[in-house]
Amino acid sequence: MTSSYPTQVKIVEVGPRDGLQNEKQQIPLANKLQLIDDLTRAGVKFIEAGSFVSPKWVPQMADSSELFNKLKRQSGMTYSALTPNLQGYNNAKTAKVDEVAIFGAASETFSQKNINCSIAESLARFVPIVEQAKQDKIPVRGYVSCVLGCPYEGDIAPQKVAEVSQQLLAMGCYEVSLGDTIGVGTPIKTQNMLDVVQQVIPKDKIAVHFHDTYGQALANILIALQQGISTIDSAVAGLGGCPYAKGASGNVATEDVVFMLNGMGINTGINIDKLVKAGNKIMQTLGRKSTSKVANALLA
Ligand code: HMG
Ligand code: MG
Repeated sequence: MTSSYPTQVKIVEVGPRDGLQNEKQQIPLANKLQLIDDLTRAGVKFIEAGSFVSPKWVPQMADSSELFNKLKRQSGMTYSALTPNLQGYNNAKTAKVDEVAIFGAASETFSQKNINCSIAESLARFVPIVEQAKQDKIPVRGYVSCVLGCPYEGDIAPQKVAEVSQQLLAMGCYEVSLGDTIGVGTPIKTQNMLDVVQQVIPKDKIAVHFHDTYGQALANILIALQQGISTIDSAVAGLGGCPYAKGASGNVATEDVVFMLNGMGINTGINIDKLVKAGNKIMQTLGRKSTSKVANALLA
């Protein structure tokens, strides 16, 4: 059984973006930069550091240009950002973002609430971003939200997830990250959804992105690992939530994922003690306790 697990997993740390975007109080830029530095020092190689969305929609991410300009970039690192439209893409390019991500959904209502357009309109809007990025040699990642349920529509057909994922790859995304935006997925549901998506997309182009609202994320990640999927999105300290998904709580904590993978002999290149310190520092800034069980246990 163990032999079917990957030996190496790529962690996509989304804490500075997905983690912080939902925070009501404006977090000082210096603390955001410190978090990214701390994560880099912990051995995280891929960090989603910001978001070039409308500042009216997500005020917390309004400083992303400044953040990228001030970032102490380390070699071998990828610092990425969300770009919903060409305006966002151009701003990201100016800020020398290493990689961008476009974000669609498998739910019509969520698409409207999150990016103010239908799924079809969003896909049409993404095409010129990917074309421009190709010319600029900037890799593009695709997200699909609500893959295991929608806060407005409830159940989502796995076929819809597969269809949107396939379209994102066809337009030129190198990978699609499947988002359980509100954390309602359970293991067998996850397995079924991944089976359907893999009928049209190879596993090496799939990443998983679980929010941990109902405590199901690690179980669902285990299912993804058993299917040979080896890219996992997570947020340090379990930060996170989408402002346009009612009830969405934090992403699965990176500390919890790394602890589980360490125990399974799966390499991530991340130093868990340094990671826990990075999480602890940002939680002190936010004035709350981490939701990572592993971080709280190691700090006790
Ligand atoms: P819109 O209002 O339809 O946009 O919003 P518009 O094109 O009509 O423009 C209206 C105004 O916004 C204009 O300004 C534009 O300049 C400005 P005005 O003339 O009124 O002063 N604008 C922008 N400003 C800065 N950067 C831009 C930009 N675009 C327009 N890029 C839009 C459409 C997509 C912009 C808006 O809905 C938006 O920004 N949505 C983002 C919502 C968001 O960030 N959600 C959270 C991220 S997704 C997520 O968390 C899920 C994920 O983690 C996976 C998962 O968990 O499932 C990825
Ligand atoms: Mg998310």
